[in-house]
Amino acid sequence: MTTTHGDPVTGRELTVADTFEFAASQLRELVTSHPGRTPTYTSHGRWVLDNDQWAPNWNGGFLAGMLWILARRTGDAWWAEQARKYTLALEPRKNDTGTHDIGFLLEPSFGRWYDYEHDEHAREVLITGGRTMAGRMQEPGGYLRTWVDAGSTFIDVMMNVGIILRAAEYADDPSLTDIALRHSETTRRYLVRGDGSTLHEGWFDTTTGEFLHAATHQGSRSDSSWARGQAWAIYGFSSVFEHTGQTEMLATAQSCADFYISETAAVGVPPNDWTDADPVPPFESSASAIAAAGMLRLANALDSQRAGTGGERYRDYANVILRTLRTTQFLAADTPGWEGIIKHAIYHRAKNLGVDESVMWGDHYLMEALELSEQSGANATSPTPTNGAR
Ligand code: GLY
Repeated sequence: MTTTHGDPVTGRELTVADTFEFAASQLRELVTSHPGRTPTYTSHGRWVLDNDQWAPNWNGGFLAGMLWILARRTGDAWWAEQARKYTLALEPRKNDTGTHDIGFLLEPSFGRWYDYEHDEHAREVLITGGRTMAGRMQEPGGYLRTWVDAGSTFIDVMMNVGIILRAAEYADDPSLTDIALRHSETTRRYLVRGDGSTLHEGWFDTTTGEFLHAATHQGSRSDSSWARGQAWAIYGFSSVFEHTGQTEMLATAQSCADFYISETAAVGVPPNDWTDADPVPPFESSASAIAAAGMLRLANALDSQRAGTGGERYRDYANVILRTLRTTQFLAADTPGWEGIIKHAIYHRAKNLGVDESVMWGDHYLMEALELSEQSGANATSPTPTNGAR
């Protein structure tokens, strides 16, 4: 597979501090103009407030998560109040048996609340949510089912395994760890290929557990690699390693990251699917924000394993992505009237939802990745992204 896209990075580059200030102004506007609303994607740069036409209401955690990040960075009581309000509004989802996205909903929101403040109520919600997610296990195939069908699992589900592992730790329940690892092992066997690329959806026989075939919803073809799925895999397998210390999960995350790097232009932002020879639009920026956060986690994990070495390649690449995303080619800072933070993301190309727009998780993982980069002490202004060459 080759990637022919790779436009030069254009526009001015904002500092990390200015990027957070811009993000804060966009989010302040959103929560004051549309209180309580948790949009998924923009249309012509303006948040779409109607129901998501694709997945069942899966994204509210990202806005809450960004509010927590700002609350902690600024120490401003207004952000903390908003963060608590948007987080508590998600609490009923801890019992939602109709979605596989419990982790997306509750980890950035209740998970950050617990990580930052050790709030006991947040911990209880995470335990209940993790148990609900674990209830999606399909015993014959050993995977957590999607909302599509009992025979289906997505690569995205790897982002919803962490909440099961949190629940296992907080409730001291090893049966939950078993479920999380069983799904992760099934995913690495059937949804990650030998070259580290990923398929989007795997279908199984619900009676025998036999793997039947690959499919996709948001990628181009059943045998292709959807870039955001690849990024979810890098982050998801790194997170399973963080919780369990299982080195095969770390190896899988590394192989997924190597594939991402080998197929993506040097600016670090992939197309929606690497199979597309001449993709229009050329970028799926949310995949790169997720990949940056995932690679920074992977880098820390590798360093923890190998006496402080091995992480540089992924940390450096993540910082290239972040530098690209801090240019006004991607950051909406010089685009009057644009309501999101980063432009040029794609939610669902086939359904024409959020194509070349902002998406809430793109904005969220950009902020998370910038924080992780700062914490690692890396200089996110270097190395310099090159123009186009792979
Ligand atoms: N449902 C997760 C995604 O669109 O990436």
